[in-house]
Amino acid sequence: MPKFLGKRNFIITQKNKNDVLDKIVSLAKRRGFVFQSSEIYGGLNGCWDYGPLGVELLKNIKNEWWKTMTYREDVEGIDASILMHPRVWEASGHVENFTDPMVDCKECKARFRADQLEDAMCGSKAYKGRKAIKCKEEGKFTEARQFNLMFKSFIGPVEDSGAVVYLRPETAQGIFVNFLNVQGASRQKIPFGIAQLGKAFRNEINTKNFLFRTREFEQMEMQFFVKPKDDEKWFEYWRDERLEWFKSLGMNTEKLRLQPHGETELAHYAKEAVDIEYEFPFGWGEIEGIHNRTDFDLKKHEEFSGKSLKYFDEAAKEKFIPFIIETSAGASRSFMAFLIDAYNEEEVKGEKRAVLKFHPKLAPVKAAIFPLVNKDGMPEIARKIETDLRKNFRVFYDDKGAVGRRYRRQDEAGTPFCITVDTQTLEDKTVTVRERDSMEQERVVVDKLSFYLLNKLIT
Ligand code: GAP
Repeated sequence: MPKFLGKRNFIITQKNKNDVLDKIVSLAKRRGFVFQSSEIYGGLNGCWDYGPLGVELLKNIKNEWWKTMTYREDVEGIDASILMHPRVWEASGHVENFTDPMVDCKECKARFRADQLEDAMCGSKAYKGRKAIKCKEEGKFTEARQFNLMFKSFIGPVEDSGAVVYLRPETAQGIFVNFLNVQGASRQKIPFGIAQLGKAFRNEINTKNFLFRTREFEQMEMQFFVKPKDDEKWFEYWRDERLEWFKSLGMNTEKLRLQPHGETELAHYAKEAVDIEYEFPFGWGEIEGIHNRTDFDLKKHEEFSGKSLKYFDEAAKEKFIPFIIETSAGASRSFMAFLIDAYNEEEVKGEKRAVLKFHPKLAPVKAAIFPLVNKDGMPEIARKIETDLRKNFRVFYDDKGAVGRRYRRQDEAGTPFCITVDTQTLEDKTVTVRERDSMEQERVVVDKLSFYLLNKLIT
């Protein structure tokens, strides 16, 4: 039986499931989705670089989120700075509470999360392959100490305690402190929300499982301000909306679940919370959290800043601090979930094909254009199609090798449509369009290709 290790852990599953992750990490590097940061210097733990295909996939995920969350009349967008006044992090509780328990091994000097020793390995070369828990049992570990996860720096030229700043560990606080600025400028009335996406930084003790827990990552957060008595209704609304978003972009329904927090798991600011979890090869893990944060955040910022953050309800002629329903997704973690979910291995005519079945909206490249042969005017027609499509879509031109091989290369990149200019094109100005997942082919008039792709991308 798998063993459940608590909210920030996973169900440990069989080894063969981890082989899938190894294959995906290797494909991600080979095809230019993700590279290790500073690889030529041996890498920087917990940091990753997005390559040419990865950056497109990540942008597409963020764009879809941005469109869903802000192209509606009751949500506004902002982009707050990463560095904020240090008092923000005192008010939010991060200076005091944003900690993980940590232990050091007195022998190999490695540092571990005290609550995550089950699957940690000893750092000593002499004990290669040894479980860290064994070292603990032998008394090699220090007592657990609390370790703050915020990255600290100094603002300006003087490095003293008055100049301390933190890299934001979440984007949410930039929204809370701008609540009245946005409300006044946009003339929104409650209920309404503010959305933001951007980088967040956490000095995680244990980074692991590829992009799942990293030190630099991106969040997609939205805070929805409601009347205190309406909080439960809006919590349910946003929980359902957010789950539906992952499904609408093709994520396998069976690999998604809602995991409510029990009373002992609730964060200090939350009245109710639920995680949207995805079943990764290493087990279930959170990709997004929905929290009913009550009036905790605005009250704290009122207290620490001395400024009123009360909302005036003109209709009811009353002032109050709104409750907040938060939706907080990791863009990088969603990227990993979409990548894993899209990965399929299939047998086609006795050959193995690895294919990334991304929703066309997320696919890094929307179409590839091939001349069947490099003669008879086919390259010229194919290049013209490429130039026309490039005005609106990210496309790729390939004239190298047999068409079957070109299909395989695009399958592995997740390109949903391959367009081939062939002999019939010379006669009737149509091309073959091959769809990635079904591998079915149809003929489309060259002049209608843009419209054809657009149609596929909006549905
Ligand atoms: N404002 C609430 C908040 O930040 P969280 O559960 O700590 O809540 C929200 O983070 C989301 O951010 C998570 O569901 C996850 O997708 C992502 N996330 C958090 N820490 C991460 C890390 N170290 N690496 C990658 N993604 C992370």
